[in-house]
Amino acid sequence: MNLEDKLQLINQLRDTGSLAKEQWVSLLRERDEETADYLFQEARKIADKYYGNKIYVRGLIEFTNICKNDCYYCGIRRSNSNVERFRLTDEQIMNCCEVGYDIGYRTFVLQGGEDGYNTADRITGLIRMIKDRYPDTALTLSIGERTREEYQEWFDAGADRYLLRHETANEEHYRKLHPESLSLANRKQCLYNLKEIGYQVGTGFMVGSPYQTEENLAEDFLFIKELGPHMIGIGPFIPHHDTQFKDEKAGTLELTLFCIGLLRLMMPKALIPATTALGTISPQGREMGVKAGANVIMPNLSPVDTREKYLLYDNKICTGEEAAVCVGCLSNRMKNIGYEIVSARGDYYDYTK
Ligand code: 5AD
Ligand code: FES
Repeated sequence: MNLEDKLQLINQLRDTGSLAKEQWVSLLRERDEETADYLFQEARKIADKYYGNKIYVRGLIEFTNICKNDCYYCGIRRSNSNVERFRLTDEQIMNCCEVGYDIGYRTFVLQGGEDGYNTADRITGLIRMIKDRYPDTALTLSIGERTREEYQEWFDAGADRYLLRHETANEEHYRKLHPESLSLANRKQCLYNLKEIGYQVGTGFMVGSPYQTEENLAEDFLFIKELGPHMIGIGPFIPHHDTQFKDEKAGTLELTLFCIGLLRLMMPKALIPATTALGTISPQGREMGVKAGANVIMPNLSPVDTREKYLLYDNKICTGEEAAVCVGCLSNRMKNIGYEIVSARGDYYDYTK
């Protein structure tokens, strides 16, 4: 393809919100700097149209690193015996919310491994406690695959959003990243259940995970289009030293940014974070993510003394910074590139619950 053909595909994606699989593959395979520059410019225009120069923040509370799963890429996988396991108490979680609320957060994300201690009742209790105390906040859960009934119970208790990355939409590729006990079909079913129940739903994938091909990425875009999530989180794969993927290459900044731009064109109103993983592979990664079309940042609100125990990948940034430090740092970083962090729930553009 010459440059004109590539720009044509970008325009088609912008104007129709979709591409055929072969078109996705060609665009990904033949991407170059000029195409990327044009893509980012168009992606930013669309993000500005719906969300202006506002960047929403989500206070991420990593509340347990205990996980029954053994995903090959993940630093807190069950079989990693070098991890010191922790679980925050209700009181510690409420304390994180208090700190976060005071510095302006209006969304809390409870994220954790698939920890057996998290019975439906415990989670319902947590939701009630947080929503009673902070009724003007949105609450996001990110605790993996559960039954439809549990998802429904938590939604009824007041949870607003749910994050569950599909990781890869290709069956064979999924098998290379996960043990037999996990299935792509179940993961997708969970996402459809969450959406039907009425959550604002987030999915996503890792860029440059081991064995990933351009066809696989094309399938990720097609799956996301079909699901129609409200939020899409992507970040580069980064090897963790205690996993079997320790010697694999990390995903690149360049491809991750390109994917962010494409996601913005495909899903104009989506909430797309510039992720911590993006900030980890490059010092200006999150700023560049915003310039490529992202509009959300998810700083850590977890107690500083447990952060070192929640390392999904190596060299994770901000593990030593207090929550207020990150907010200050990020608001400066955003200001420097002409964006503004806002204290708001930051719901999907035309969402009504
Ligand atoms: N590198 C980058 N991202 C990772 N995740 C898990 N392990 C890694 C890794 N090694 C991502 C997964 C998961 C999210 C919480 O973190 O996509 O869904
Ligand atoms: Fe944490 Fe910059 S965002 S120190």
